[in-house]
Amino acid sequence: MPILYNDSTREFHLQTPKTSYIFSILENDQLGHLYYGKKLRHRQSFDRLFHVGESPNTACVNEGDLVFSLDLIKQEYPAYGTTDFREPAYQILQESGSRVTHFVYRDHQIYQGKKKLKGLPATYAENEDEATTLEISLADEKTGVEIRLLYTVFEELNAIARSAEFINHGQSEVNLARALSASIDLPGSDFEMVQLSGSWARERHVKERKLVPGIQSIASTRGTSSAQQNPFLALKRPNTTEHQGEVYGFSLVYSGNFLAQVEVDHYDVTRLMIGINPFDFNWLLKSKESFQTPEVVMVYSEEGLNGMSQTYHRLYRTRLARGKWRDRERPVLINNWEATYFNFNDKKILELAKASKELGVELFVLDDGWFGKRDDDTTSLGDWSVDRRKLPNGITRLAKDINELGLEFGLWFEPEMVSKASELYKAHPEWVIHVPDRSMSHGRNQFVLDFSRQEVVDFIHGLMADVLRDAPISYVKWDMNRYMTEIGSLDLPANRQREVAHRYILGVYSLYERLTNEFPDVLFESCAGGGSRFDPGLLHYAPQGWTSDDTDAVERLKIQYGTSMVYPTSSMGAHVSAVPNHQVGRVTSLETRANVAYFGAFGYELDVTMMTEEEKEEVKQQIRFYKANRTLIQQGQFYRIESPFAEEGNITSWMVVSEDQAEAILGYYQVLSRPNPGFTRIFFQGLNPEFEYAIEGLEGTFYGDELMNAGLQLNRYRVNGHPADFSSIIYKLEQV
Ligand code: DGJ
Repeated sequence: MPILYNDSTREFHLQTPKTSYIFSILENDQLGHLYYGKKLRHRQSFDRLFHVGESPNTACVNEGDLVFSLDLIKQEYPAYGTTDFREPAYQILQESGSRVTHFVYRDHQIYQGKKKLKGLPATYAENEDEATTLEISLADEKTGVEIRLLYTVFEELNAIARSAEFINHGQSEVNLARALSASIDLPGSDFEMVQLSGSWARERHVKERKLVPGIQSIASTRGTSSAQQNPFLALKRPNTTEHQGEVYGFSLVYSGNFLAQVEVDHYDVTRLMIGINPFDFNWLLKSKESFQTPEVVMVYSEEGLNGMSQTYHRLYRTRLARGKWRDRERPVLINNWEATYFNFNDKKILELAKASKELGVELFVLDDGWFGKRDDDTTSLGDWSVDRRKLPNGITRLAKDINELGLEFGLWFEPEMVSKASELYKAHPEWVIHVPDRSMSHGRNQFVLDFSRQEVVDFIHGLMADVLRDAPISYVKWDMNRYMTEIGSLDLPANRQREVAHRYILGVYSLYERLTNEFPDVLFESCAGGGSRFDPGLLHYAPQGWTSDDTDAVERLKIQYGTSMVYPTSSMGAHVSAVPNHQVGRVTSLETRANVAYFGAFGYELDVTMMTEEEKEEVKQQIRFYKANRTLIQQGQFYRIESPFAEEGNITSWMVVSEDQAEAILGYYQVLSRPNPGFTRIFFQGLNPEFEYAIEGLEGTFYGDELMNAGLQLNRYRVNGHPADFSSIIYKLEQV
């Protein structure tokens, strides 16, 4: 049984084959945390894991007793206001002004499967026996509020999903000033915090720091999960590497403002909490209303960071992403953005499409600039009807022409935005997120539509659905190119203005939900000025996302390496683009650009009509290689081997291995060429030690144990016979 409850000790034991998560109902009927980590044998009582010492100088709950203090107790979903002085998981502001609550255990139920979270993306079980759920109900008598804590154990996938629901059964309204998804207190603070941080064009770089007493956190206040911080945080032991050692991962299935915080207290207890950012958040909960927090997915691994990542990859690829495209091979696409930017017409597009088809491309994506009068980024967002100056025969005709060339057709939208120079803004200036009587900041000359309003979402839905119904469109790129400012909605009263950012995200999810249901054959790719909203929330609807606007092969090593910490290769849009690279000006070989982009949802983003015959031949071969191996790449087990974030960081390597271990592909990348480099070995990962492998291009065969333990000695590798910067090798292994 993945979830056990012991009536006499009042303990819960959640278990997967490799993990135990244990907590109990305390003597005051609150919940206390006992253990999270490597699997423990189940026993009658884990009481001895409950540590509470006499503290000479702290506040205690019961008069006459100097022991029972929440200051000293590890908790499950803590509150502030009595004897715990750390930051809490939630805070409820009551009509009286009081913030003190006392939530005690009321009852619980354990059932097979997993319920949907209303209005929110979440992991799911396809069959009931894949997951077991525990729902614990806590009640606060004075307010009449109930907190329902949800825990779902994915036994085979070694993960636990948590969230909380607040239900107001009382007569009075209350305000949720803070409602995080989960909190956990771990004994000791000998951890390093791993986070994925960056900015536009350098998203999700791996950063690590040692924990110190006090609060350390990452957060977003930008209205999206953001390029600056990803809604993910891991705690690893100092000696944990990619391949061994303990790590705890916490990944929030949410696309808006979030907080992931670690507080190390005076007894070296590490409290981690994650959820909607309480900063600038408040939710008015009227009588009979409920509020559901997003879900956090917790993964414990003692097989290093790779072990944690592989769990996320499997869970997110198969039980977070959904729809027809979830398990399908993703098409090799070409996107016209870096080839033409706004400057195209139907002739140019058809030329590009024709040349791409000859190279083996399967899907043509028409990016920004096809609608309204959009010759630059100052106009037309919101006017989702075709620009006949550029495309005189319309989108439907163009899509059909492209189909006739033998390609699928995909289209770009930026549904959440409006330009001032647009019909939509003229008709509905009140539909923009803003605060009356204050100036409105812009980002890329555009403004954010108020998706907290149902009518706005309905209106945009109507426009998009019309286009998708009329034209044979099999792919949608859903972009979002600015962060939110002056967050306010004309549709909500003063005391609900702090709900806008979250309501906006719920609006985005609801539009995704409708469109993906109505157009189940369409492959959605999420995007936000590159990877500014690359998160598990959107992965639920869009099984792939544009990883970054930075398409430089060297920069992509860091971006894709960091992204793979949580997200599967199948989710990472990765394109070969032109050189000099448009973001950093670097010139890398066509070979290296493809060798990096192979490890994602592969495509091209350059003017293929300008290529030499030799380059075209090379591209044809690249596409043949990718098509022959894409199931392995998109669905295989991914291993990071050498990190671009290592001290020198000159070498990156990674590989994918098929489930049956009969096939693998390794990518090895060197940034700068080194003089007289001596011996270099690559240590493969994840092979079967017993299997004998042939490596394409190398003589003889190799056993898995040799490749993993003794490594493969690299010849000095060269580009066109010479040592070179930005060089790379791909090794394809096959069991003989
Ligand atoms: C930002 C995206 O990341 C790009 O790929 C491209 O679609 C542009 N927006 C278009 O405006």
